[in-house]
Amino acid sequence: QIRSVEGFLALDSRANPTVGARVVLEGGAVGEAIVPSGASTGTHEAVERRDGGTEWNGKGVSGAIAAVGGELATMVVGMDATEQRLIDEAMIVADGTDDKHRIGANAMLAVSLATARAAAGALDVPLYRYLGGVGAHRLPVPMLNVINGGVHASNNLDIQEFLIIPHGAATFGEALRWGVEIYHRLRSELLAKGHSVAVGDEGGFAPDLGSHEEALELMVAAIEASGLVPGRDCSLGLDAAASEFWREGRYVMVGQGLELEADGLVEYMARLVDQFPIVSLEDAMAEEDWDGWSILTERLASRVQLVGDDIFVTNPGLLGKGIERGVANAILIKLNQIGTLTETLDVVDLATRSGYRSVISHRSGETEDTTIADLAVGLGTGQIKTGAPARSERAAKYNRLLAIERELGPGARYVDWTRAQR
Ligand code: PGA
Ligand code: ZN
Repeated sequence: QIRSVEGFLALDSRANPTVGARVVLEGGAVGEAIVPSGASTGTHEAVERRDGGTEWNGKGVSGAIAAVGGELATMVVGMDATEQRLIDEAMIVADGTDDKHRIGANAMLAVSLATARAAAGALDVPLYRYLGGVGAHRLPVPMLNVINGGVHASNNLDIQEFLIIPHGAATFGEALRWGVEIYHRLRSELLAKGHSVAVGDEGGFAPDLGSHEEALELMVAAIEASGLVPGRDCSLGLDAAASEFWREGRYVMVGQGLELEADGLVEYMARLVDQFPIVSLEDAMAEEDWDGWSILTERLASRVQLVGDDIFVTNPGLLGKGIERGVANAILIKLNQIGTLTETLDVVDLATRSGYRSVISHRSGETEDTTIADLAVGLGTGQIKTGAPARSERAAKYNRLLAIERELGPGARYVDWTRAQR
């Protein structure tokens, strides 16, 4: 039974305030969680409640924190912490809006996750085991964002994320080592060519480059220089975050000097897939461009994983629409896009039942909270996207996955999901 709920303020990795919650149970178990925050947010995401005004540049969260310790606490104190669904549903009903803007998705998610952590603590099991039971044994293949562009950096790359995917490793630990070695090789190459090695919001390098192709060439070279085989050991992924450069029906890539219609952008992406060992393509089309998404899916779904982020925003209704229209073949899962753990579990379940893969994801504004690492193992989704292997808010998730792998010992599994695609 929940004895008390308190909200608190914390900073995220971009010097903005965010919401934390602390849930204490009658038996003394404690659970804490801190919520992240995005920059290239989807229009239909659940609403992050901010104070406005001048303090914290308008990004204060005192209203959301007050809701955690006030309205939400009053509601959930006395409830059984293991009744996650009942607790989340009570918060959803009390909020009463479609997008959680009244109470705030940041307030609700903090309580939702802190409750799960407290319940796991009371049962004396790690969070991944609480969420996944005895079946939780699969470590995710990481997608490491080694070159940052778009709104996550101030360089000339329109594509937001250039990812390395070390799927051919034998263990998660080996995959992470490969990722780290490639990251350092890439850094040396950039320096040798006179480029900046300053980093973007997710810890990847953020140089000005001649083209997106040049970024991908540098990544392939870094994989080879690490003694690995591109496509076999480690492949590439992109998150275009195309909603960010969609202007009244056209895709305007200012940094690249390109202006394309939907079918032109699909051909552009198809050329990249032909030229480079790309296995995953996220948000290659804008969130409003359902027709463009259909063209993309028809053209590339048999060859690469097409991940919907802004178009689905971890929302069961929007994923349902995508399944109906046959759009994309995977979904990015961000807890704070929907605002409760229960709804997140429901979306992953719907995706799995419909043959869509799920990729558990961080946000560009992160904290030391490592819930997504446990979520990825608990649900066995097989993939996680949590930034470069640098900057502590990103490394914290990788470190948690290393700890889970150690704890699982010989029971841990690392599965190459790309094999099913080849
Ligand atoms: P965001 O970026 O957290 O800024 O939305 C991550 C992504 O687009 O996948
Ligand atoms: Zn994205």
